[in-house]
Amino acid sequence: MSENILKDRRVLLIIGGGIAAYKCLELIRRLKERGAAVRAIMTKASHEFVTPLSVSSLTGDKVYTDLFSLTDEAEMGHIELSRDADLLVVAPATADIMAKMANGLANDLASTALLATDKKVLIAPAMNVRMWTHRATQRNFETLLADGVDFIGPNEGDMACGEYGPGRMAEPAEILAAIEAHFSELAYPGGGPLKGKRILITSGPTHEPIDPVRYLANRSSGKQGYAIAQAVARLGAETVLVSGPTILPDPPGVTVTRVETAREMLAACEAALPADIAICAAAVADWRVASDAEQKLKKAPGEQAPALALVENPDILATLSQMKGKRPALVVGFAAETEKVIEHATAKRQRKGCDWIVANDVSPATGVMGGDLNTVHLITREGQEDWPLLPKQAVAERLARRIADHFVTSKAAE
Ligand code: CTP
Repeated sequence: MSENILKDRRVLLIIGGGIAAYKCLELIRRLKERGAAVRAIMTKASHEFVTPLSVSSLTGDKVYTDLFSLTDEAEMGHIELSRDADLLVVAPATADIMAKMANGLANDLASTALLATDKKVLIAPAMNVRMWTHRATQRNFETLLADGVDFIGPNEGDMACGEYGPGRMAEPAEILAAIEAHFSELAYPGGGPLKGKRILITSGPTHEPIDPVRYLANRSSGKQGYAIAQAVARLGAETVLVSGPTILPDPPGVTVTRVETAREMLAACEAALPADIAICAAAVADWRVASDAEQKLKKAPGEQAPALALVENPDILATLSQMKGKRPALVVGFAAETEKVIEHATAKRQRKGCDWIVANDVSPATGVMGGDLNTVHLITREGQEDWPLLPKQAVAERLARRIADHFVTSKAAE
């Protein structure tokens, strides 16, 4: 598999007339960055929310709107437009577009292309909460699912119209992940090289309470662990992600358990066993406050600041690595170091008893903590592999493939 599943994929993006249309600009940028070719059809109503000029500047192609435009038909007919794509994405999928799709209407270019296509369609619904929960929309949605249409979202939250509830369009990153998941399934119709493997992943920071409103935490964003969960799930693994508090959406096809503290994370991991592989990418707090206060700590004039006594948290990686009976066949840890990266990581692998360590330099100058890029070294029993500077997603894909290769090789050696 190429490192980037979206390279040279042709996506036909159908932009509906909703306020969320502006998020399509970001989606197009992300798709193009990953090497996809994007063509856009805009409904007339969508022009009220985002200009065709912005869309065409980002796609690098003309924007298609008019069913009866002779130029469009001469250059590319509406049938060809929809057949030429590998995937159709409707974002935002308004109540109107969904109603047309569910009933086979074709009275503009967008609906005609959707009716004429023989390709998979992914919709990202977006509308007012009452429109979304209306029986008519729900009926249309059920019809679309029965017709084999894929969907992502809608999310729950504050809406542009001032109401709260389900109806917000999924974020561009979530739509992108759903598109990638679609192409992975195409690449691996039989389920991928990790099919049949159960993988447990920890990710994100932990929050250790001081009192009911304060906690100790760290700067981990969870991006690397989430990207790994997504990558192994795409290769067919049954994936369980135990995540500390993050703002990231659940990766598609992954079972996510959200926890706060290190002790909750360990309990969730133990509950997720047995697993064939465990990957500990979480930045677990090494210490917690010995006795967190039941009530909010108050400051009183003249009194000294409270001293926090800390006790050590359980080491999840070491616990999983040293388990009797239920130890996963492959346990992978991370080593975030700020100096002597290889030396410290090698010692950490031995001390914790895991099989592999993914070592990275997290000194502030690298921008790794919270950033999108990572330079890692894979340390195994056999030695060390240096990987180039890569986006966290590419690190994840490479690690996922390395794990798949490892199982193929060890099976062959049996
Ligand atoms: N880890 C864990 N549970 C802990 C601490 C760390 O599972 N309580 C795991 C991390 O998920 C990571 C690995 O151990 O895979 C190493 O984490 P790191 O923070 O680099 O190491 P520490 O054990 O905290 O050692 P030090 O702070 O001394 O570098």
